[in-house]
Amino acid sequence: MTQLFLPLCVACLALVFTSAAPPPTTQTAEVAIPDRCDGIEFDAITPDEQGKQLFFKDGFLWKGFRGPAQRVAESFSGIGHVDAAFRMHREDRTEDHDHVYLFQDEMVFRYFNQTLQDGFPKKVEQEFPGVPCHLDAAVECPKGECSADSVLFFKGSEVHHYDVATQTVKKKEWPEVPPCTSVLRWMEHYYCFQGNNFTRFHPVTGLVVGAYPKDARAYFMTCPNFGHGSGDHKLPLCSEVKLDAITSDDAGKTYFFTGPSYMRLDTSRDGKHAFPVTRMWPEVAGGVDAVFSYQDKMYFIKGDQVFIYLSGAHYSLIEGYPKTLQEELGVQGPVDAAFACPGDHTAHIIQGDQMKDVDLSATPRTVTKATTLRHAKVDSALCGPDGLKLFVGSSYYEYTATSELGAGQVERMPSPITPSMMACRRD
Ligand SMILES: *[C@@H]1O[C@H](CO)[C@@H](O)[C@H](O)[C@H]1NC(C)=O
Ligand SMILES: *[C@@H]1O[C@H](CO)[C@@H](O)[C@H](O)[C@H]1NC(C)=O
Repeated sequence: MTQLFLPLCVACLALVFTSAAPPPTTQTAEVAIPDRCDGIEFDAITPDEQGKQLFFKDGFLWKGFRGPAQRVAESFSGIGHVDAAFRMHREDRTEDHDHVYLFQDEMVFRYFNQTLQDGFPKKVEQEFPGVPCHLDAAVECPKGECSADSVLFFKGSEVHHYDVATQTVKKKEWPEVPPCTSVLRWMEHYYCFQGNNFTRFHPVTGLVVGAYPKDARAYFMTCPNFGHGSGDHKLPLCSEVKLDAITSDDAGKTYFFTGPSYMRLDTSRDGKHAFPVTRMWPEVAGGVDAVFSYQDKMYFIKGDQVFIYLSGAHYSLIEGYPKTLQEELGVQGPVDAAFACPGDHTAHIIQGDQMKDVDLSATPRTVTKATTLRHAKVDSALCGPDGLKLFVGSSYYEYTATSELGAGQVERMPSPITPSMMACRRD
C-alpha cells in the first residue's frame, strides 16, 4: 500500500506548494477495483470455513471463482492487505479446525465466521514457532496428503513444512516449484500461483508433473476470451443434465460421469467442478456407459469392455484389463447402468428394462436373476446406505431396496436433479 499512496502524497504536496488555490477538501485516495481477468497477481488464496475460495489482492477480495471484488474490510475486520492465508485443517482440535489465518507483515490474524478471534493479531513466531514473517504464501496440507496435518509456508525459494501437532518445521527447497505468490489447495491438489500463472505441485515431494505454468484465467475464474480449462466450465442447465454413470466407493468418494467429464459429489467444501475422466482414469477415454464399485475396486463398463481399477489415493488399472463384458461379468453389452450395494456381492446390470444380477463372489460369473423393471430406460444408478437412486434424464427415482424395482411395484414420483446435488444451473 505504501507504494500506492506515496506518489499520491507527493502529488498532493506539489499541488499545495505550487498553487495558490486551497487544497482539495474531500480528496480520498481511491484505488481502482481490480479486475481479475486483467491477469493480476493474487496476494493470497484460501478457502473459508464454508469452502468458498477467497482470492486477495491489495485491499480487495473475491469470494469464489465468479463475481466481482469487494473490500477485504467488509468481511475481515482489522486487516487491509494480506500477504498469505490458509485455512487450518485439524480435526483433533475443534478450537483450531477450519479457522482462517491471514498474514500481514510480522503479524497473523485468525478468524472464524469472519470474526477476529481473541488474542489476535499476534506475531507470526508466537503462533507458528520457527516460521518466518513477511510470508509469500501458505496452504493447509491435511493428513493423508501430507504425512501429518501440516501447513506449507512459502517465502522466496524456501518452503517451510510445519507440523501443526508437534509445531516442528522442516525447511525444503523445491527447484521445480517457482516462487509462489499464493497457493491454492483445491480438490486435494496443490497449485502454486505466480503472477497470473499457476503450477501444480506435489505437497510432499515438490515434484511438478505435466505442462506448466498455465494461465489461471482459463481455469480458476470466468474470463471472457479465455477457454474453459479442466477446473472450470460452463454449467449445464439442471434440466439438461444426463448422467452416464454414478458410483460411490468404500471411502465415500462419490463420482458422476457425463460425456468426457467426471465430478466429485462428496467434496462440496471445495465446490463442485468437472474434470476430464482421463485425468483420473487415463485408459477410459471418451466417456463411459456404467460404473459401479465393489470392495476396493471400481468397474468401468464401456461398450463390451470392462476396466477394473484398484481404488486408493489414486486409481490404477488392474493388469490384464480391459476384458470383455462376457468374460468378466457373463453378460453381453451394451449396458445402460450398473450398481452394487455396499456390503453386497451382487452387481446389478441394467440394459433397457432388464436388470441382471451377477454374483461377484462366484467364478465364472453368471446371471443369477433377471428382473423386468418399471423403467424402460435408466441412465445411471447409485446404491448407498441411504437407499437406491435411478437416474433418468434430469430426474431421479428413489427406492429403499432392489426388490422395489420390478414392473409390478408401486410407481414412484420423480425428483428433479438440483444445483445442490451437482454443479448445474436452474432454468
Ligand atoms: C456467523 O456470524 C453471523 C453474523 O455475524 C451469525 O448470524 C451466525 O450465527 C454466525 N454463525 C456461526 C456458525 O457462528
Ligand atoms: C506465465 O507463463 C507464460 C507461459 O509460460 C510466460 O510467458 C509468462 O511470462 C508467465 N507470466 C508470469 C507472470 O510468470
